[in-house]
Amino acid sequence: MSIKIAPSILSADFGAFADDVRELSEAKADYIHIDVMDGHFVPVITFGPQLVSAIRPVTSTPFDVHLMIDSPEHFVADFAKAGSNMITVHPETTAHLHRLIHQIKDLGARPGVALNPATPISSIEWVLGDIDRVLVMTVNPGFGGQAFIPEMLQKIRSLAERRASLGMRFEIGVDGGVNADTAPLVARAGADVMIAGSAVFHHPEGVGAAMDELRLSAAAARA
Ligand code: DX5
Ligand code: ZN
Repeated sequence: MSIKIAPSILSADFGAFADDVRELSEAKADYIHIDVMDGHFVPVITFGPQLVSAIRPVTSTPFDVHLMIDSPEHFVADFAKAGSNMITVHPETTAHLHRLIHQIKDLGARPGVALNPATPISSIEWVLGDIDRVLVMTVNPGFGGQAFIPEMLQKIRSLAERRASLGMRFEIGVDGGVNADTAPLVARAGADVMIAGSAVFHHPEGVGAAMDELRLSAAAARA
């Protein structure tokens, strides 16, 4: 199956989200990745559920909401109500990850769990069967435009092996520093979804050309 692309609107024009989201969906993004940051778990503040509801009418492309916030259990209902299709959380942000995953499912959204570079796969071993995506962070969360951490390729490979040996179905996402140079590496390591912010929005020929380039370089690596 060909690799999916989830452009991150962290690198979009904050004064023109609706236009940028429309352009991404016309260019056939598989998901729109929405990075929510609280200034506690990560040093930056971005946006909340109001932004998700404001851009929801613009597209039917699934919204993939990445919560980089403390105590996300207090906010997942608002994000689900605002139209989030997938909600990804970090295990470090909650005392009760299993409960939170089921809370997200009960709200009708698909749960994902993100692993910081220093966080091992073993920390989520007992919830792997309950989630729709593991998001491997290939940068430390908080900013766009950081350099890809190459050691994380081994984490992607281990996760893909673990999934096959357990007969599970969760998607493997990769977030941070994905561009035309690193896309082939993550595709070969076993990723299903590439999240990309700066590589999509800062491409000189626009978001459509950027996504084509990422898809092509990933496909060539797998051929
Ligand atoms: C980082 C965010 C990423 C970010 C990726 O904390 O989770 O989704 O937008 O940006 P790039 O692709 O520029 O590394
Ligand atoms: Zn993200």
